[in-house]
Amino acid sequence: MSTDNNLKLVVLASGGGSNFQAIAESIKLGQLDASVSAVVSDVPQAGVLQRAAALGISSAVVDFDAYEQRPDFDQAMRQQVAALDPDLVVLAGYMRILDTEFVDHYAGRLINIHPSLLPRYRGLHTHRRVLADGARKHGATVHFVVPKLDAGPIIVQAELTVDPEDDENGLAARVLRLEHVIYPLAIQWLSEQRLTISGDTVLLDGYRSAQQYLSEGDINA
Ligand code: GRF
Repeated sequence: MSTDNNLKLVVLASGGGSNFQAIAESIKLGQLDASVSAVVSDVPQAGVLQRAAALGISSAVVDFDAYEQRPDFDQAMRQQVAALDPDLVVLAGYMRILDTEFVDHYAGRLINIHPSLLPRYRGLHTHRRVLADGARKHGATVHFVVPKLDAGPIIVQAELTVDPEDDENGLAARVLRLEHVIYPLAIQWLSEQRLTISGDTVLLDGYRSAQQYLSEGDINA
């Protein structure tokens, strides 16, 4: 860990990178004591790479399609991230499952954002599934990563009430707005060393806090 209380982040992303951008902007605004060493993507055309270039942040690609064997890709990704020596690895729309060696190596220093109120709706197409079920509540979760998919200790969640008018894209956009607030917040708590993991629970300042469950109303207020 850096001694200057300024967390060195490596962001892994496969897609558009709006969460990466929210994190980078929070840093610029002085709301987040961290720096992004680099963005690493498994997709050479990922929009996140353009966003990184526009922000002057370095990036690297470990092209998934360039590897015939999955273990070779996993090893290349491990080596790429290790070379950047991160304090914290931030998954921001990274669409591959990390191998156990990676997850174990960064235990407690590897976080993800997921577009649902975990443990509900693990996996893909969360907005579609929420709408199909007629669920009333939906949202986003930042959690530590463990080998089981979308299952690690929860740091912070933000919830909204599903509107009967919401379609999949509209709901995704509402959830993304929540993500852009809670991801920088979770990283700031880590930077301030305010989080501890106690079994399956994450404590903020030593206890389970109401601040760890926000509503869309709190966030838009
Ligand atoms: C977000 O909804 C995130 O929760 C999920 O993938 C999406 C990434 O969006 N894991 P972006 O690339 O950060 O815009």
